[in-house]
Amino acid sequence: MWSTLAQKGQAAAGRSIPELMSAERADGYAVEACGMRFDYSKTAMTDADRDHLLAMCDAAGLSEKRRAMFEGRAINETEGRAVLHTALRNLSGGAVMIDEQDVMPRVLGTLARMEGFARAVREGNFRGQGGAITDVVNIGIGGSDLGPAMATLALAPYHDGPRCHFVSNVDGAHIADILGPLNPETTLIIVASKTFTTIETMTNAATAKAWMAERVRDPAAQFAALSTAQDKTAAFGISETRVFGFADWVGGRYSMWGPIGLSLLIAIGPEAFRAFLRGAESMDIHFKSANPLENMPVMLALTGLWHNQGCGHATRAVLPYEQRLNRLPAYLQQLEMESNGKRVSMDGADLPVDSGPVVWGEPGTNGQHAFYQLIHQGTRIIPCEFMVGAEGFEHELPHQHRLLIANCLAQAEALMKGRSLDEAKALIKDKFSGDELERQARHRVFPGNRPSTMLVYPKLTPEVLGAIVALYEHRVFVEGVLLGINSFDQWGVELGKELAKALEPVVAGETSADDKDASTASLVGWLQRHGA
Ligand code: F6P
Repeated sequence: MWSTLAQKGQAAAGRSIPELMSAERADGYAVEACGMRFDYSKTAMTDADRDHLLAMCDAAGLSEKRRAMFEGRAINETEGRAVLHTALRNLSGGAVMIDEQDVMPRVLGTLARMEGFARAVREGNFRGQGGAITDVVNIGIGGSDLGPAMATLALAPYHDGPRCHFVSNVDGAHIADILGPLNPETTLIIVASKTFTTIETMTNAATAKAWMAERVRDPAAQFAALSTAQDKTAAFGISETRVFGFADWVGGRYSMWGPIGLSLLIAIGPEAFRAFLRGAESMDIHFKSANPLENMPVMLALTGLWHNQGCGHATRAVLPYEQRLNRLPAYLQQLEMESNGKRVSMDGADLPVDSGPVVWGEPGTNGQHAFYQLIHQGTRIIPCEFMVGAEGFEHELPHQHRLLIANCLAQAEALMKGRSLDEAKALIKDKFSGDELERQARHRVFPGNRPSTMLVYPKLTPEVLGAIVALYEHRVFVEGVLLGINSFDQWGVELGKELAKALEPVVAGETSADDKDASTASLVGWLQRHGA
């Protein structure tokens, strides 16, 4: 089926997207769900291509695998774990069973404890040595940072709690710059780590504890922990009243719906946090029940597979026209690339096709003045995933929001339509003539026929953000099922961690670099001679 998809992708290379376009296509190649609309009509996909992709879903057993995920079967086979982040937002659903035990009472109990703690912090009942908490610092990395950091920024208009800050990098500059201006006596530190062993997080947590100890008599009293490893949080000295645990069936990059979302919950409050969960839950319900053609995550996934494995485009750009989604591309990089960047299928055999694409992006309109040049006129085709809200929050600046929308739509239009040589010549015919006109015009040609999709939503509320993130989570799941891979492990991050551990004493000059390759040894030498 992959070779047929590749043949179809090759055939699409000579097809004109503008010629495919019609009112019927604009509606027929769009899906509505959870108050949003996903439009994939500006792609070269035809009905026959789409039918093939849908047949691939059947062949891969998508419905059965989706059921297996929601039912808590151990679909993360290399780690022997269920994948149940959906249970964390199952606010109106029923029981979710693992090993004949309903996990929901525990999930809801932990949510209630988190809400209680968040309220106490927000209302000044949980206090630091110097009084009410003014600043919260989340120390975590990867899934224990990107989700809450992305969502906290995205939902800035809903902030009515203490200021939230995020420290992730082991580069001391990060924690120094964040803690520098803060008052330890009114700061709460949240150590967020599923395993509570991640070297960056544990190093930063120790630094934060030392910083607090300089001014606070009982520094541990101003720490909370979010982890599956309660023995380790106790060893760090954090009272279990401020430890919020979760089960190993919550993957790191899927974890902001539970305890890892505590910083977000403190920033926006329990009501808005529940709305965020409800938005995701509504996407779960849609994903479980809608038929494939009307299923937003399925069609987003199939469009992704069409462009990557079908047409051979190795990257995709995520381009939110929403400044507060500044961190969404980074968040999606982990979600998509850590999930689907795998080279073997579930049974250990080499993958017969390319794995998931390189995901990158930046909010519009900023990107327009940076890298869109290549997207419009470069030799490689970059499928673009645009997104924009109908309404912004800055009601006093409606003309700016209209300009934002116009730019977003214009970019998708320009990518599709392009500008022909004749059109380019007509633009500059008063300035140039003859060969020079031809030469100058060729620089102003846009080949067009470049694919893009568009996600439009009413406004970036907590519900909408929850629905968008869950949409992308399920998209990753569907792509992973069709590729036949395990989207829920991440063995590819291990080797670098091991080598870094072994290299630290080498850099410190405690052990020799003799067993290192010549390049590494020589770089260590250079860095040591220059101050390392
Ligand atoms: O190294 C990758 C990773 O394991 C991610 O999958 C995870 O989100 C991140 O590190 C942080 O892990 P932890 O929450 O256990 O500190």
